[in-house]
Amino acid sequence: MKITLSSKNFKKIKADIEIILLSDIEESKDEKLLETLGFKAVDEACVFLAESQKIYVGFEDETYDSIAIAIATAIKKLQTTKFKNAKLDLSKLPSESLKAIVEGTLLGSYSFKKYKSEKEEKKKQELVIAIADKEKLAEEILNDSTIISKAVNKTRDMVNSAPADFYPQVMADLAKDLAKDASIDCKVHGEKFLDRNHMHSMLSVGRASIHESQLIHMSYKPKDAKKKIVLVGKGLTYDSGGLSLKPADYMVTMKSDKSGGCAVLATLWAIAKLGLPYEVHGIVGAVENMIGGDAYKPDDILYAKNGKTIEVRNTDAEGRLVLADCLCYAQDEIDDIDYIFDYATLTGACVVGVGHYTTGIMGNNDILKRNAVLAALKSGEYATTLDFNRYLKKSIKSEIADISNIANTRYGGAITAGMFLDNFVYEENKDKWIHFDIAGPAYVESAWGYNPFGGSGAGVRMTIQFLKNIDNK
Ligand code: BES
Ligand code: ZN
Ligand code: ZN
Repeated sequence: MKITLSSKNFKKIKADIEIILLSDIEESKDEKLLETLGFKAVDEACVFLAESQKIYVGFEDETYDSIAIAIATAIKKLQTTKFKNAKLDLSKLPSESLKAIVEGTLLGSYSFKKYKSEKEEKKKQELVIAIADKEKLAEEILNDSTIISKAVNKTRDMVNSAPADFYPQVMADLAKDLAKDASIDCKVHGEKFLDRNHMHSMLSVGRASIHESQLIHMSYKPKDAKKKIVLVGKGLTYDSGGLSLKPADYMVTMKSDKSGGCAVLATLWAIAKLGLPYEVHGIVGAVENMIGGDAYKPDDILYAKNGKTIEVRNTDAEGRLVLADCLCYAQDEIDDIDYIFDYATLTGACVVGVGHYTTGIMGNNDILKRNAVLAALKSGEYATTLDFNRYLKKSIKSEIADISNIANTRYGGAITAGMFLDNFVYEENKDKWIHFDIAGPAYVESAWGYNPFGGSGAGVRMTIQFLKNIDNK
């Protein structure tokens, strides 16, 4: 979907279709007709008046979400027709709607057809947005929101790809392609490197896979960078659970266990395209958790990069083992880090606790966590903090090693996983670290809002929003 801005008189803009967002049907010239058709100005309500060539959609409030859902609904309707273009009058909408309109359009029109044998012809439709005058700000919003939406859609494409053709080496190659496109650096390290660098926690997880584990390190270093930020991602290209095998029903969708890593790769691409004034590193542990004669086992003791020993009590709690080493690698390789964030589909417990729509935010710095939640909400994502406490901390103690990879309680699993990671955050970085558990929103099994079935691209928008204002934090 192509989007253009126009400062022409709205009536003079030529288009096949007019899209009208309504919060109250009394505001419409077509009130009577809309009433007869049973149209209500609520989220996802839509009528197409073919004769007068209008698409009406409802919205419930002036939030980003409501506007984005409304335009996504209209665009999906437009996509079912053969009309080439549509126009929308921005002046009729709440101020600051442009971001939601652009992102709702580009995210709502996404579809994943890679594995469909019948190839549909890609429709080249256009949305013309009428603005008061062609101010620079509007152009800037269009440009930034287009980059952000592309990054979300790139993440969705990667997450949706099947594990047979998206394994660690493929992820690493894609990272290189993204880096090349954004003119940034990308280094990839295989298992020899992991061994030489004492990353045996990560290495053990991938041992039973036929695919070699890969450590991906993308870096964007603009001149006079104001801050140094590291994003670390869990890139489990498949999580079968390992010897602590997942039940069949729970294994389906585990191609999405790479979502954190995919979000990090696409976010790096977007940050470079946006030209943000920060040095940003993206570090992803790309690994496949499988079974086999060489598989790591419950009862194994692993040596992480920082020298800590880990008792494996469940091989399905593998993400934290990969992240432990990736966090150490990041802190050993990169000096004077200002912020270090990690992204992972880490626990089913997070989904149970906060639902399918919300990211769990954890860490040691209350202000940073609060600001992350605010940035997420502003960006169109949902997030909430989950607080650590001294009692849950005791539940991951081990009798035989420094720490156990699972807790001795069934409750608070998202928090105990976050507290496990805290063991691999160095003292000087404790207050600079945030852990984002995106297990809920990363993968959509029943479409919601402007998210179709499959990968949602969770993490990308909130991170960019957070970084855009990180100077003030
Ligand atoms: N990848 C899963 C977590 C997950 C579950 C993500 C559902 C998305 C949807 C993770 O590796 C895992 O299996 N975690 C276990 C931890 C447990 C063994 C302590 C879990 O959540 O059950
Ligand atoms: Zn697992
Ligand atoms: Zn996992």
